[in-house]
Amino acid sequence: KVLVLDFGSQFAQLIARRVRDEHVYCEIVRHDLTADRIAELAPRGIILSGGPSSVYEAGAPRCDPKIFELGIPVLGICYGMQLACEALGGRVESHTVREYGRAHCEVVDAGDLFRDVQPQTEVWMSHGDQVTQVAEDFSPLAKTSTCPFAAVRHNRLPVYGLQFHPEVTHTVEGKTILGNFLREVCKTTGQWRLGDFADETIAAVRERVGTSRVICGLSGGVDSAVVAALLAKAIGPQLTCILVDNGLLRKDEATAVVREFTEHFKADLHVVDAEERFLAKLAGVTEPQTKRKIIGGEFIECFKQEAAKVTDARFLAQGTLYPDVIESGGSPDGPAASIKLHHNVGGLPEELGFELIEPLRDLFKDEVRRLGLQLGLPEEIVWRHPFPGPGLAVRCLGEVTAEKCRTLREADAIVVGEIKAAGLYRQTSQAFAVLLPVQSVGVMGDGRTYENALAVRCVNTDDFMTADWSHLPHDLLSRISTRVINEVKGVNRVVYDISSKPPATIEWE
Ligand code: XMP
Repeated sequence: KVLVLDFGSQFAQLIARRVRDEHVYCEIVRHDLTADRIAELAPRGIILSGGPSSVYEAGAPRCDPKIFELGIPVLGICYGMQLACEALGGRVESHTVREYGRAHCEVVDAGDLFRDVQPQTEVWMSHGDQVTQVAEDFSPLAKTSTCPFAAVRHNRLPVYGLQFHPEVTHTVEGKTILGNFLREVCKTTGQWRLGDFADETIAAVRERVGTSRVICGLSGGVDSAVVAALLAKAIGPQLTCILVDNGLLRKDEATAVVREFTEHFKADLHVVDAEERFLAKLAGVTEPQTKRKIIGGEFIECFKQEAAKVTDARFLAQGTLYPDVIESGGSPDGPAASIKLHHNVGGLPEELGFELIEPLRDLFKDEVRRLGLQLGLPEEIVWRHPFPGPGLAVRCLGEVTAEKCRTLREADAIVVGEIKAAGLYRQTSQAFAVLLPVQSVGVMGDGRTYENALAVRCVNTDDFMTADWSHLPHDLLSRISTRVINEVKGVNRVVYDISSKPPATIEWE
């Protein structure tokens, strides 16, 4: 296996998943794990992630410097490289020009790490600091016009550094470079498969749960369905699933979830009708993070009440994925920055009352889908676009009311229905409607209207960490607009969202 030491990078998990893509088992661990502990774990390789700090700042996260002498290959990426170079005698400084985005990289030593990489290759940089001087023992492997040490290796120790990010797709030959590190340097054999993940997780869940019961929230999304499928395999009769109909679900969603559940699972299912209590708590609230927190809190309350009816319910299972974890600020003691409070991570009340089981916490969406198919879930569930835990509340900008949810639900059904009818549902990653708190003037028949605007959001993405807006055909957009304006009361204008992530996010709140 390979260990990724996490220094608070938004990309730590992306590194891990690229390693898994090469069929090498990989774990993300704390950056300050001691060299002794790492030696016990005996990984084939160690990757030091990037991170938002500067190595020369007081309190910057560091690794145990003895790890460089374990004889285990180390690859430092960005901050990780700066740390390795500094620890082994080099100098890191803030650079006058911060470098973000694409850069042309020239390979100066096509040895192990750069084997089969083009002499001139495009890489993706994201740094303010860089290594300005390396110790004599280091040799440069690649450079860019502003960065003399874009890649380095130590002459005696198996220590390598990359200033750019090989894990992002914009680094054209990043896959080859990481693959070289894993195969040529770490000598891994690449035999690990996602199926092993399912078996290992099932075994781990069985052991942890013992004879207790597990409550699992169903949302209609693929994540919770895969969690339920894993748990059903692991502990079958000890599982109780709960669907909270919070009034923030899409059109006919609750009915569809119940139908699918009864078709595919032989477990206990409770449906809680909680629309009124959610909407009452949300009345008058407009601030997005507050909305998310309220919904998270109310969810847990519902679970607790429902779980109280189940004897010995000790665990709560959730379909939290890695992007939820990292964008909510990673682990509580980790160094990553907080972008949104995803309700199933940051919005949890302190006094949880359950022990959490999050078997998908290390996975990305596409890996979850593959896992779902392996577990025998039907394509209809596996390929459904994701839907956020806080539901329509984060798509009803500003205050949430039952009336606005009704409007949004109708419009959303038209948007998704038309995309499906055009045969483009599988080719897009997520499509939905957003009800804007903006009113504008229109004319319908002979009368003036003053009604809401609706935004259509449709994106393409592999992992939901970065996304591009989908270039939908104009005639499809036109059909959506005509139908929404004609059929949905209260909407007289439709706009299409053409923002990518970053700098926008996929959801509007
Ligand atoms: P953003 O808006 O952060 O969304 O670009 C990335 C992906 O995450 C989904 N999302 C959530 N999923 N709980 C979830 O389970 C949440 O609180 C939440 N917020 C956003 C979003 O729909 C997109 O797929």
